[in-house]
Amino acid sequence: MTAQTADGSNSILVTGGAGFIGSNFVLRYVADGGRVTVLDLLTYAGNRENLAELEGNPRFRFVQGDICDANLVSALVREVRPQAIVHFAAESHVDRSIVDPGAFIHTNVQGTFTLLEQAKTYWSQLGDVERGNFRFLHVSTDEVYGSLKPEDPAFSELTPYAPNSPYAASKAGSDHLVRAYFHTYGLPTLTTNCSNNYGPFQFPEKLIPLVLLNALDGKPLPVYGDGKNVRDWLYVGDHCSAICRVLESGQPGETYNIGGNSERANLDVVETICSLLDEMKPDSSIGDRRKLIQFVPDRPGHDRRYAIDASRIKRELDWQPKVTFEEGLRRTVKWYLEHMQWVDHVRTGAYRDWIRQNYEERVAQ
Ligand code: NAD
Ligand code: TYD
Repeated sequence: MTAQTADGSNSILVTGGAGFIGSNFVLRYVADGGRVTVLDLLTYAGNRENLAELEGNPRFRFVQGDICDANLVSALVREVRPQAIVHFAAESHVDRSIVDPGAFIHTNVQGTFTLLEQAKTYWSQLGDVERGNFRFLHVSTDEVYGSLKPEDPAFSELTPYAPNSPYAASKAGSDHLVRAYFHTYGLPTLTTNCSNNYGPFQFPEKLIPLVLLNALDGKPLPVYGDGKNVRDWLYVGDHCSAICRVLESGQPGETYNIGGNSERANLDVVETICSLLDEMKPDSSIGDRRKLIQFVPDRPGHDRRYAIDASRIKRELDWQPKVTFEEGLRRTVKWYLEHMQWVDHVRTGAYRDWIRQNYEERVAQ
C-alpha cells in the first residue's frame, strides 16, 4: 500500500492471518515493508507455524483472539491504529459447514458484524486524513453466487447472490453486512469475491492438498459424485497480489471479482496431481497413482460449476493472474514435497504444540 498513517507506519490489522490465504498475504505484506498485526483465534485451521519466519520481526505481531470478542477487537484497533483491516478470518470448509453450520454463522456473520462495528467506531473518531485513508477489506468467495450451468456466463460483480451451502450463505450474509456499513455509515469498505485458491500452507482438508498427500502415501483419492464439478482455480500468490491492488486502488463501497481463468473439472485436477507426483516422486510400490481414484457419494447440494469474470479488476485496477494452473500446481506439489515436516505437524496435530515448543519453552530457558 502506498497511503500511510500519520506516523508513517502503514500498519494494518489482518484477521485470520495464520490460515492458508491470510498467512501467504501476511508473509508478502511484511516482506514488502509493511507492518502487520495478526488477530487469529488459531482454530484447527490456524497454524502459527505458517508465520514462523516472521517471529522476532519488529514489523510483525501476533495476537491470539476471537473476532467475535468485541472488547478485544475494540482495544486492539485503538492500540494498533491500523490504516486498514484486512479480514480473512472465517470458517472456510464447505463440508464442515454441512455438518456444523452454527460455527459458520457465528464466525462468518457475527464475527464480521463485530469487526464492522468496532471498525466503524474507530474510523469515525479518526482525523480527516486518516479517516479518508482508512479501508476495511473483506475477503470473500465466488460461492456466494451459487452454481452455474455449463453454458452460463461466468460470475460478474452484477450476478445476483444465490448461496447454496451454509458456508456460502454465511459468507453472503457477511458480504451484505459489509455493503450495508458502506451505504449506511460511509465506512470505506472493499469486498473481493475470489475463486478456489491453492498453494503453500493450505490445510489438507481441501481438494488439492488432500489428494496430493493421499496420493503421496498411496491412499484412496476420494472424488465426489461424477468428478465433473468445475472450479476456477487461482494460485494463492495471485490472490494476494489482487488483494494488495484492491487495498491500494479499489473504490470504497465496491466489490471486485478475482479469478484465475482456469476452469477445471475435479477429475482433471486429481489426474494432473497424480501425473505430477508420478513424475516428481515416483514410487514403484504405488505405481500409476490414477489407480487410487475412488468415486464416493456426492456432497449434498454440491455446486456444479464456478467461473469468475475478472474483467472489472483487470480493466479498473490493471490486475490479472500471472501463474497458470499447470505452473501453480507444479509449484504447489514441489512445496508440499519440500515441507513434509509442516505436513507431519498438521497431520499429527503437533502444529498445535508448536507454540508451546517454540515460545513457552524458549521463554523458560
Ligand atoms: P482457513 O480456514 O485456512 O483460515 C481461516 C483462519 O481464520 C484460520 O487461521 C483460523 O484460525 C482463523 N479464524 C477462524 N475463526 C476465527 C475467529 N472467530 N476469530 C479469529 N480468527 C479465526 O481459510 P482460507 O482458505 O485461508 O480463507 C481465508 C478467507 O478467504 C476466508 O474468509 C474465505 O472465506 C476466503 N476465501 C477462501 C478461498 C479458498 O479457496 N480457500 C477462496 C475465496 C475466498
Ligand atoms: P474444496 O477444496 O472443498 O473447495 P470448495 O468446495 O470450496 O469448492 O472442493 C473443491 C471441489 O472438489 C468441490 O467440487 C468438491 C470436490 N472434492 C472432492 O471431490 N473430494 C474431496 O475429498 C474434497 C475435499 C472435495
